Amino acid sequence: MAFHANLLPEFPWHSLGPARSRAAGHPGGAVDLTIGTPVDPVPAFVREALFEASDAHGYPDTVGSPELRQAIRSFLERERGLSAGAEAGILPAIGSKEMVGLLPSLLGLGAGATVAFPAAAYPTYDVGARLAGCSTLCVDTGADPATWPEGIDLLWINSPGNPDGHVLSASQLARIAAWGRRTGAIVASDECYESLCWGVEEAPSILDRRVCGEDVRGLLCVYSLSKRSNLAGYRASFVAGDPALIAPMTELRRHLGFMMPGPVQHAMAVALADSEHARAQREAYAARRAVLLEAVEAAGLENDPESVAGLYLWVRRAGDGGKDVTGWDIVNACAELGIVVAPGDFYGQAVRDHVRMSLTACDEAIAEAARRLPKLRNLLG
Ligand SMILES: Cc1ncc(COP(=O)(O)O)c(C=O)c1O
Repeated sequence: MAFHANLLPEFPWHSLGPARSRAAGHPGGAVDLTIGTPVDPVPAFVREALFEASDAHGYPDTVGSPELRQAIRSFLERERGLSAGAEAGILPAIGSKEMVGLLPSLLGLGAGATVAFPAAAYPTYDVGARLAGCSTLCVDTGADPATWPEGIDLLWINSPGNPDGHVLSASQLARIAAWGRRTGAIVASDECYESLCWGVEEAPSILDRRVCGEDVRGLLCVYSLSKRSNLAGYRASFVAGDPALIAPMTELRRHLGFMMPGPVQHAMAVALADSEHARAQREAYAARRAVLLEAVEAAGLENDPESVAGLYLWVRRAGDGGKDVTGWDIVNACAELGIVVAPGDFYGQAVRDHVRMSLTACDEAIAEAARRLPKLRNLLG
């Protein structure tokens, strides 16, 4: 216990307790826009697939069933631009959070190694690096890689980004892949929000042929069906890329018993083969995003101009660059209105002036938040 207490940062979500209590006291009830947990149903055909495979008496294989492996491969070629000629390793993960948290350890990185990630980032990149005993570093993943410090062993990129919704183009990704080759750094690309693009056409994969041709050496794509297919409760994701990196990770996961349950493997294969449900889900989020965006502006806030994709609005006070109003000021004012949002400092000290608003609330809750938000203008003064 003491070991972990010293090693890991305090779980940030606990600090939202007072804001949650305040919001719960609102006569209309609280609207929770904090965590990006899907609220829409699992598609019926995916639930049927789960049931079809429910006589799962034997142990599943760590590498996934042939059906699942084929479905992942086909998906990567069909939707993520992987070249048909590329040799890529594939490994299912029990939700991508565990893969993100364990990746440095699974890759054998430890003391003396450096893990880098964006300045505004999903906190588990940092947690995974700490767990492995690595040093950490923040880099601007949108900048020219030539400006990054030397000595990075593993770089996390996340496009579309959580929390900031930024997207890296194919040419930016190609520069990052080339930098990885040149320096020997492994590039791990967390792509779980790729199906949710708003102000851009696409969020390409690190494995896209425009990024790496057929050569995936040093590259890993971490993908999740939590948001694309509302499978957060199934824990369905995978990592794909350099076979030389995937093979030892697979061995270690075999030793540790990290196996995706068989019924989930089948459900995931069926979900990956279908694009229509993901398009429909995207439309549902697009509608919620439009409603919230208008309300955010009416509240005297602005969505960051670079927030063009993903599951969140990345919001700060309009006009003053957020200098006078911190993310926590906005959190507390929102709580007065019965709305709970996450402060920017959960994602990095450099973004303390922002808050993150998730699109994962049902239409009625989003409409209710939109009705209340304009009053924020007065509360923030
Ligand atoms: C950037 C990022 N990566 C990974 C995850 C983990 O997703 P899951 O474990 O559901 O696959 C999340 C969850 O919100 C996330 O925001």
